[in-house]
Amino acid sequence: MSGFFITFEGSEGGGKTTQVSLLAAALRGRGHDVVETREPGGTPVGQTLRQLLLRPHTGPPTDRLVSPAELLLMLADRAQHIHEVILPGLHAGRIVLCDRYADSTTAYQGYGRGVDLAEIARLNAFVCGACRPQLTFVLDLPVAVGMQRAHERRGAAAVDHFEAASVAFHERVREGFLAIARAEPARVCLIDAAQPVEAVHAAVLAGVRKRGPALL
Ligand code: TYD
Repeated sequence: MSGFFITFEGSEGGGKTTQVSLLAAALRGRGHDVVETREPGGTPVGQTLRQLLLRPHTGPPTDRLVSPAELLLMLADRAQHIHEVILPGLHAGRIVLCDRYADSTTAYQGYGRGVDLAEIARLNAFVCGACRPQLTFVLDLPVAVGMQRAHERRGAAAVDHFEAASVAFHERVREGFLAIARAEPARVCLIDAAQPVEAVHAAVLAGVRKRGPALL
């Protein structure tokens, strides 16, 4: 694998999508070939899974995905994404920037929903194989700030299934990301996402310079 794989993680409202675009522009400015992608929904099959996973739950309880089903659909999306987008990009020598990846499953389905963490680690390893990010940014911010930002960004659109979850759920997800950052400091760069966009971008660039192979 000759490319470089970077993931962006964190709770809603942390500005991951903006930071992916800013880093992609900086890298392209240095002549790199960059792939910007995201989960869930980075492939046509993934788009269908994304609709199923994020649709607001307004119907009867039987209309809801149970946690193991949600987990397996996230992993199905990832398997498809790795096969169609991530590995081909890396094999072609590109830098792949992905908005959410395996750490989101640990944080949301593990810490958030309470699915066994060892089981998630096993399933993520099965699906990802050697396709692991060399560098991960966790954009961290207080839950109240993130929920407010997500609310402003959404405008009149319907609240998706995850945004509608309780504050306690989002607190557990945040704790999950912080635990991942503590456990893997060599891979994970923790950034305070409550800062202005430009300051977060500067921290991302510093992280790439420090941990990436002379990309910038
Ligand atoms: P998205 O609109 O992409 O959220 P954001 O803009 O905050 O990144 O929605 C993706 C949602 O899916 C988000 O709430 C997190 C959730 N998710 C999981 O629960 N598990 C996963 O493995 C992934 C990849 C995402």
